[in-house]
Amino acid sequence: MGAESVHLDPAEPLSALARRALGFVKDDTAVGLGAGRAATAFVRALAARVGDGLRVRGVPVSEATAELARELGIPLVGLEADIDVTVDGADEVDPDLNLIKGYGGALVRERIVAAASRRQIILVERDKLVPRLGSRGRLPVEVIPFALPLCRRRLAALGPRPTLRMVAEHPFVTDNGNVILDCAVGPIADPPGLERAIHAIPGVVDTGLFLGTADTVLVADGTSVSELTRQRGSP
Ligand code: A5P
Repeated sequence: MGAESVHLDPAEPLSALARRALGFVKDDTAVGLGAGRAATAFVRALAARVGDGLRVRGVPVSEATAELARELGIPLVGLEADIDVTVDGADEVDPDLNLIKGYGGALVRERIVAAASRRQIILVERDKLVPRLGSRGRLPVEVIPFALPLCRRRLAALGPRPTLRMVAEHPFVTDNGNVILDCAVGPIADPPGLERAIHAIPGVVDTGLFLGTADTVLVADGTSVSELTRQRGSP
C-alpha cells in the first residue's frame, strides 16, 4: 500500500473524526487500533503522523487492522505494552456512553485491548447515537463453535433470536476461530442483566455490550465533530 492509501478526504466525516482523535495521541506511547471504517480512518491519519515523525506503537484489535497498520508503516506491539489510549468505532452509543460493538466481528479483541488501555475513545457518526442500546436491532455474541447448538438454544430461551453470521455460504469465523450469533433485540431494558445472563451460557466468549468502557465519544455530524465525555461513576 503506497502513500495514496494514507490520503484522507478532509470533506469526509470519518476523516474529520480521525483527525480529531489524533489530539488524544501522545508521542512515544502505545495506541490501541480498533476495527471498522472509523477506526480504519484513524489508522490512516495516525500513519500520516508517524510518517511525519510521531513515535507510537500500535496494538491492533484485528488481523485486518494489523495488516493495514503494517502496510502503512505503524510499528506494532502486543499487550505487553502499556496502552495509553485506544481509538475504535461502535455500532450503538447510548446517552451514558455505553456501547454495542461487534458488527465487524472483532468484539473479543476490542474488549481485551480496551481493558488494557488507560482510555477508550470511540468514533461514530451521529446515526449511531440511540436512546437505548439495542435500538438498531442486533447484538453480536461470539461463541465457541463446539458450543453453537447449546448457545443458540440458551440465547433463544433468554429472548433474543440468534442467527449465525454467514459470509457467502459459510459461517463467518472470527480472528479467534469462533463464530458469531447475531441476536435480534429491541431496545434493551436492562443491559447489565442481559450481559450477565448471556455470559453465564457455557461456550459464550463475549458479547457486543460494552458497558462503561468508553471515556470519550467523538460524534461526527457531517464534518463537524462534537465530544461527549462519560461522567465517572455513571453506568
Ligand atoms: C468491529 O467489531 C466493530 O465493533 C466496529 O468497531 C464497529 O462495527 C464500528 O464499525 P464502523 O466504524 O465500520 O461502523
